[in-house]
Amino acid sequence: MSIDFKVADLSLAEAGRHQIRLAEHEMPGLMALRREYGPSQPLAGARIAGSLHMTVQTAVLIETLTALGAEVRWASCNIFSTQDEAAAAVVVGNGSPENPAGVPVFAWKNESLEDYWWTAQQILTWPEGSGGPNMILDDGGDATMLLHKGVEFEAAGEVPENPQEGDDGYSYEYTVILDVLRRSLAETPGRWTEIAKGVRGVTEETTTGVLRLYQLAAEGRLLFPAINVNDSVTKSKFDNKYGIRHSLPDGLNRATDTLIGGKVAVVCGYGDVGKGAAEALRGQGARVIVTEIDPICALQAAMDGYQVAKLESVLGQGDLFITATGNKDIIMADHMAKMKHQAIVGNVGHFDNEIDMAGLARVPGIRKVEIKPQVHEWVFDEGTDSQRSIIVLSEGRLLNLGNATGHPSFVMSNSFANQTIAQIELFTKHGTPVEDGGYANQVYVLPKVLDEKVARLHLDALGVELTELTKSQAEYLGVDAAGPFKPEHYRY
Ligand code: NAI
Repeated sequence: MSIDFKVADLSLAEAGRHQIRLAEHEMPGLMALRREYGPSQPLAGARIAGSLHMTVQTAVLIETLTALGAEVRWASCNIFSTQDEAAAAVVVGNGSPENPAGVPVFAWKNESLEDYWWTAQQILTWPEGSGGPNMILDDGGDATMLLHKGVEFEAAGEVPENPQEGDDGYSYEYTVILDVLRRSLAETPGRWTEIAKGVRGVTEETTTGVLRLYQLAAEGRLLFPAINVNDSVTKSKFDNKYGIRHSLPDGLNRATDTLIGGKVAVVCGYGDVGKGAAEALRGQGARVIVTEIDPICALQAAMDGYQVAKLESVLGQGDLFITATGNKDIIMADHMAKMKHQAIVGNVGHFDNEIDMAGLARVPGIRKVEIKPQVHEWVFDEGTDSQRSIIVLSEGRLLNLGNATGHPSFVMSNSFANQTIAQIELFTKHGTPVEDGGYANQVYVLPKVLDEKVARLHLDALGVELTELTKSQAEYLGVDAAGPFKPEHYRY
């Protein structure tokens, strides 16, 4: 049977397969789950719509889900993050480029926004007679948002007018989404409501997507149960921190190859991602300055030895500016206008609204020069004595995925083991009453015992010798000798 897909180039499949093979060795958590659950096929009957960076590591996740019985359709959750060779290898699967037999993937590096929202529709649109998707695996919440907006507008019978530039919350991207939904309401009325009815739940990867889910749940608008994978300890305290510690310098080096040592780096946001970013930059010898709005995180940064300042106070000092807040409007055009010549500006928060790219493009007389894909010089005051430029990476989108290949396999094995377990939970517990361990239309985190299990699956590979509690020590602490070891409120 042929599959539908859209990727850059199927001839890259062999190169992708080699990388996937090496990644499997670095992803012991996912491979252990394949061994544990392969025989019982807990995801048989699951039809998963996946929206998550289509990288080599994600290929290992996808093939873990199919090894557990799921059918899958996949798109990337970012226009620049796909590794084309990984996408090709997943499509080809065990077949050949002439006769692919793998998973339908709709993702390529450098999509337009129109392409991006087309791919999001492809993962939610399953072949006639298949029954449609019954699970979503999301990163940043775009697939979940598209479905919720579709249902909302179908109930209202109309899609609102496109916002005008300057309206609060305006983004060109939002007008693309509204156009997609306007067309689908005209062509296939009731389409999104029908799809949503079949969905048993969503598992969400990242801080930003989780925020969106809690907002939907608080408003009573969440259409199905959700598992917040991000706040498994073995996700946010590992991927967000140690992952970025690896992939931020990787992105900076591949983009600019500018020496980081000795420079002044400004990191906006000192949450999990900001902590990893600051540590990486300091490790390279940069003097790091942190900006924060939360007194606790600001104090942490100060105690960790960083200067903490307002962005406005350090604009003329920074050689590198990195946003990691998950918030909007962090570095604005008038900030960038005051930076040093050839300061580098990049974002590692989920969306591109941390850096005011639209405002930058509107600065009178500004000129954008492509140095190479995903690296742009923006020239101010050309031809005057004050002519200078700044360098913006990945057009303000996740630079560690746009300029490099995202987090490495070992850390993603932790995140994706949580994803796999969360998919099994929501899929297999569907229909179970809440009082018997089922899930309501709320947002849940995985129980600590599963979090500890994910960590455990990664110890051997690092040669970790874990101390075991004696019976009397366990009694003294009031815990089971087999775990969980910490109370829910423990913060790690
Ligand atoms: P977090 O909530 O732990 O940290 C964000 C920090 O930014 C908070 O401490 C907050 O107080 C601070 N902040 C908010 N507004 C600010 C402002 N105006 N100025 C200065 N600081 C401000 O979130 P986390 O987990 O660190 O994630 C941050 C972003 O990175 C999210 O969008 C998340 O989805 C994304 N992410 C990106 C990854 C990547 O590979 N690039 C990996 C994981 C998460």
